[in-house]
Amino acid sequence: MLSFDYHNPTRYIYGEGEHRRIGTLLRHYTGKVLLHYGGGSLKKTGVYTTITNALNQAGIEFCELGGVKPNPSVELVYQGIDICRAENIKFILAVGGGSVIDSAKAIALGVPHPGDVWKLYTRKEELRTEPLPVACVLTLPAAGSENSPNTVLTHDGCARKLGFGHPALRPQLSVVDPTLFLSLPLNQMANGAADMLCHIFERYFSNTPDTELSDALCEATMRTIMQQAIRLKEDLSDTRAWGQLALSGTIAHNNLLGVGREQSWACHALEHELSAVYDVPHGAGLAVIVPAYLEAMVPHNPGIFAQWATNVMGVPANRNTPGVIREGIRRLRAWYRELGLPQSMQELGIPANADFAGMARAACVLKGGAANPHLPGIHPICPAECESIYRACIAAI
Ligand code: NZQ
Ligand code: ZN
Repeated sequence: MLSFDYHNPTRYIYGEGEHRRIGTLLRHYTGKVLLHYGGGSLKKTGVYTTITNALNQAGIEFCELGGVKPNPSVELVYQGIDICRAENIKFILAVGGGSVIDSAKAIALGVPHPGDVWKLYTRKEELRTEPLPVACVLTLPAAGSENSPNTVLTHDGCARKLGFGHPALRPQLSVVDPTLFLSLPLNQMANGAADMLCHIFERYFSNTPDTELSDALCEATMRTIMQQAIRLKEDLSDTRAWGQLALSGTIAHNNLLGVGREQSWACHALEHELSAVYDVPHGAGLAVIVPAYLEAMVPHNPGIFAQWATNVMGVPANRNTPGVIREGIRRLRAWYRELGLPQSMQELGIPANADFAGMARAACVLKGGAANPHLPGIHPICPAECESIYRACIAAI
């Protein structure tokens, strides 16, 4: 196990109906917020009314900015920064999924930052100011942004999707109320579960020795995500399954499962290029990339793949390690399929003549730098290997 420094200050409140308390909960932190939310779902479900009533009743003043789109754009973030500066707002309340929370974190970064917030993401400017605090009411369990120190933003103009991390970006307060998930359609649940699972893959498939405890925690969380997603596929009104999925999604990405381990994030880097160029949903893009990436990694550490196939995918252990691993990956593909997730670029709507070489290089330069472009992991991969992974996904297996 490697050395680590783990600090997680988020106050995390879980329970049916808890979102109704958001006004009184916020009084402990602030008297004025920017209320940030997405497209139509919040108003359609009536959650917008409940939240604004709760703010009014608690005497929390608010300005609002809706319209965050999936793969959130920096353009709306600039608007949010202007509103906060003009109205002297020093606290952001996000009500939504990962895109809304990430957009709120970007506004929180941008308000005190004297330069261009996008340049923090491109690493052209450094963060020298403390971001504003953020609270959130989660409406879609998936990205884990409700407890992660990260934000991912898209610049539509240059077709780039980039992440930024800072310890102060963990929300101060996260309210996770499973009744808010009842309006989600099957495909959003499936995208979310695929994302959660990959957050653990990026940590679990590692060469670091002496990680038995976190291996076991990862395995339990992966099994729970896979089981609860299937339970929800059968019945999207199962609040108890939503609750378990949501907690798993938070744990999958608050880095408790990643401490002390070398991590990869190669699948995320490969997927973010697809989202940036083709605006595909993040979880769906991961469902396509992951099996091909895992297959490419197997020869570099078959032991961890055999352990996963047995402990997570339920493949009986035997001496035929390659067969056990093959069956584990086959079962993973079957799980994606059962949830209706795409299994090829074709199903994602990405053409066979896409610029896979360009996207592979962009992902590698971002992680490894122009002098040594690569993606880290069990086996570091160069742009040519990334391109082969993309190409292996062109048609369904
Ligand atoms: O915009 P509205 O109308 O609200 O609709 C949203 C959106 O279209 C809808 N939705 C949300 N809650 C709903 C609902 N529909 C019905 N009922 C509800 N209760 O769901 C759609 C997708 O929402 P989005 O927030 O985009 O999904 P998700 O939570 O999967 O977030 C994806 C984003 O998170 C980033 C991804 O890259 C992607 O941009 N990630 C952020 C991470 C982080 N900050 O730590 C880590 C992840 O790896 C990920 O990269
Ligand atoms: Zn993700």
